[in-house]
Amino acid sequence: MQAGQHPPKKSDLLKALDLLKEEVIPAIADVRSQNELEALRVRYLGRKGKLTAVLRSIKDLSEDERRRIGQRANVLKQELTNAFAERIEGFQEKPKTSYIDVTLPGRRRHLGRKHPLTIVTNRIVEIFVGMGFEEYLGPEIETDWYNFEALNIPEGHPARGEMFGNFYLPGGLLLRSHTSPMQIRVMENTEPPVRIIVPGRTYRRDAFDASHSPVFYQLEGLYVDEGVSFADLKGTLQRFSKELFGEGVTTKLRPSYFPFTEPSAELIVSCVRCNGEGCKVCAHTGWLELGGCGIVHPQVLRNVGYDYERYTGYAFGLGIERLAMIRYGIDDIRRFYANDLRFLDQFSEI
Ligand code: DAH
Repeated sequence: MQAGQHPPKKSDLLKALDLLKEEVIPAIADVRSQNELEALRVRYLGRKGKLTAVLRSIKDLSEDERRRIGQRANVLKQELTNAFAERIEGFQEKPKTSYIDVTLPGRRRHLGRKHPLTIVTNRIVEIFVGMGFEEYLGPEIETDWYNFEALNIPEGHPARGEMFGNFYLPGGLLLRSHTSPMQIRVMENTEPPVRIIVPGRTYRRDAFDASHSPVFYQLEGLYVDEGVSFADLKGTLQRFSKELFGEGVTTKLRPSYFPFTEPSAELIVSCVRCNGEGCKVCAHTGWLELGGCGIVHPQVLRNVGYDYERYTGYAFGLGIERLAMIRYGIDDIRRFYANDLRFLDQFSEI
């Protein structure tokens, strides 16, 4: 004992032991990591720890007190040692990750959704299926016969170069420049009546700008039977346009030219933005072009072995991006292909 210090009083020491116990037991329960637990252990049971200090001061007591208080202190030391050991086991049993803070806000998973072109394609298909058309899909790699020849676009025909800059493949094959080849493929294998639609990807060597993409989607339609007329074509496309854009739109067929139809026309609808007034979307014309159409050329029917005296038909080809851009008010075709989730997340079923 150092000079000037009084021997500790028995009652003080007992109180100190009780206080220590009251402090340590809840603190052990509260620690959040093994490191914290170890720090706590050192604070109380370490060489300079609080309990150790109490134990040390016991030696200054009378022998009788030393025995009784020493016993109490030792019991407490044992209790605490056990409590630390138990708590450490708890940490070792459970990996840290099992500590879940239930008050943390949840992590949102990004939910995938349909591409706007898929949504629009599905809707168009649904409209035509509702009118009795059957959906077909065809190959994206085509032969010269299906892509051109059978469609009345012979070698040297200006339509080959002017209308379509093509992606040629070895062996006389090419990436189809339109979905029209499927008219031939289906007619070759089916007797009339034929009433089909064919959505699909098509390719042209076009610039990639606000209104062109070298990869794009079309939807082909074909109806061949006895007595199919231009009026049927007009009625069908009119009904279709109203289903997609609303009853308010007006449709027109404007004379045009395609080698595989005669007569040929372009389907136009009154601008859905300005209602025909003239705006940026319709280039101040009041009208929007949706695609080409016409009465199937007799030569095309002959090419697939149909009796062109008995059967007539109509065909149409719609640009799906164009329909989607009009339907949603999108100003740049490249947005469909940029994989920007901020854009893609905006679309839901129509
Ligand atoms: N195949 C034409 C194109 O890609 C679109 C087309 C026009 C399809 C008239 C047709 C049609 O079926 O009758 O430009």
